[in-house]
Amino acid sequence: MKTLDDLLGEGVSGRRVLVRADLNVPFEKSNPGTISDDGRIRAVLPTLVALRDAGARVVVCSHLGRPKGAPDPKFTLAPVAARLGELLGSAVVFASDTVGADAQGKAAALTDGQVLLLENLRFNAGETSKDDAERGAFADQLAAFADAYVDDAFGAVHRKHASVYDVPARLPHYAGGLVLREVEVLKKVTESPEQPYVVVLGGSKVSDKLAVIQALLPKVDKLLVGGGMCFTFLKAQGHEVGKSLLEEDMVQTCADLLEQAQGRIVLPVDVVAATEFSADADHVTVPASQIPADRLGLDIGPESVALFADAIGGAKTLFWNGPMGVFELAPFAPGTRGVAEAITKIDGFSVVGGGDSAAAVRTLGLDETAFGHISTGGGASLEYLEGKTLPGVAALEAS
Ligand code: 3PG
Ligand code: MG
Repeated sequence: MKTLDDLLGEGVSGRRVLVRADLNVPFEKSNPGTISDDGRIRAVLPTLVALRDAGARVVVCSHLGRPKGAPDPKFTLAPVAARLGELLGSAVVFASDTVGADAQGKAAALTDGQVLLLENLRFNAGETSKDDAERGAFADQLAAFADAYVDDAFGAVHRKHASVYDVPARLPHYAGGLVLREVEVLKKVTESPEQPYVVVLGGSKVSDKLAVIQALLPKVDKLLVGGGMCFTFLKAQGHEVGKSLLEEDMVQTCADLLEQAQGRIVLPVDVVAATEFSADADHVTVPASQIPADRLGLDIGPESVALFADAIGGAKTLFWNGPMGVFELAPFAPGTRGVAEAITKIDGFSVVGGGDSAAAVRTLGLDETAFGHISTGGGASLEYLEGKTLPGVAALEAS
């Protein structure tokens, strides 16, 4: 696999380089134009700075959210272009389309060391199409912008999308520093985790995490489960969960996993139960076995945090994906905060996998340097741990 350093070694001055970045950042719920966590923009800066400073004409592309293959102002990358310019300390040209007249004109006008950001890739049906020809046609248009391609969008390498999978088949392709570091860390955790190996999983759905649970269960000493997905496990243990998130069709699967795990899956023992999904809702901490019928669990309780912290404390390798509760709402943040703080204290190597948990670390104001590695990819890091081939990485490896 060729790397950004190889490309820089070839010399990029005056060359057009297409960089696939993952600039899919979260926005403030109450203030939709305001980026709430710019971690993914910061993560790709070293690659962009290196290319810019070497005199490349840099064309950056990314997706944002999940628009349906057509322009949708809700998902414009315009605010990201502004923030990227601030962080780079040099203006970023923004194209109001992805491969249309505006993008083509602005790409052609680029001078050495200038950076152009194209509008959201997913405003084009070809980006995510399942049809190879449709994706290929869009990839042709993207590839026409440049004579080299750098993939530094680790968060998207698990997607078989035009900008991730098909463009590298059309241009000399190089892995950016972020992709390289992410893959190196996940490889270490997957192939040679120092024991004890503790995994903490949260987030809303068991169905999203089922494959990773199955892949990790044979390898881990403890699997701690919080977040919305814990209620399906609690139900499988025979508890009523009130109005909490529940995947009825996964209850039996969870029961099977609990049996297979023989005590290594650890569930919350108390839960913060609210009358509704709102920061102002009345809420009480109740035993996990006694969630009132008219309430829903929105965080794990303090006894659970202590129980989880105890298991986390002994870990030599730790992987965490998914918040323990609705951390964006202050009353339901302590579970995620408590678990995250316990992770910062381990005498071992910790990996924070993903979008939401990485955003939680930063928005809760935790010390990022206290973690071994904070991944920019949620789904991507999980699929890596599942042992799946990641289309973006495979495309970079192909010669
Ligand atoms: C992410 O947020 O996980 C990545 O940016 C990928 O986004 P996607 O799940 O919409 O493909
Ligand atoms: Mg996602």
